[in-house]
Amino acid sequence: MSEAMSSETTIPRAAARPPRKSPGASLSRDHLQLEGLFCALLDAFREGDWGGVRAMWRSFEDALEAHFSTEERHLLPRYAAVAPAATRQLLHEHDSFRQALWALGVGVDLHMVNLVLAQSFIGALREHALFEDRSVYPWADLKSVA
Ligand SMILES: [Fe+2]
Ligand SMILES: [Fe+2]
Repeated sequence: MSEAMSSETTIPRAAARPPRKSPGASLSRDHLQLEGLFCALLDAFREGDWGGVRAMWRSFEDALEAHFSTEERHLLPRYAAVAPAATRQLLHEHDSFRQALWALGVGVDLHMVNLVLAQSFIGALREHALFEDRSVYPWADLKSVA
């Protein structure tokens, strides 16, 4: 190995640059936080802690709406240019989640959360998140979108 090659390979190039912004990683962290919030919510529900359920529900609703709004404002309009069918599907799922959120919110207000509906909701949300983690978020990181 030549002297030039040796010194080139030992320079930590990444350390010489500021950390690269990663919109995909930030949105993926949102997914994990939302999942954690929802699981805590279900635990509070099972324990009959309705004060906790109501407080966590508001946090979950606000966090999910903020996440969807970020995707819809900054990410999906540009993703639609390269993947229109996938974008339509994601937007359709956002609408479905908002409707389910409304139905679950009524259950929270009445202290009558439908556990089957809640579990189906979180299952669908996990699939939605997994799809984004593997498709639109890597694309966003590549394009530095969001
Ligand atoms: Fe989404
Ligand atoms: Fe998302």
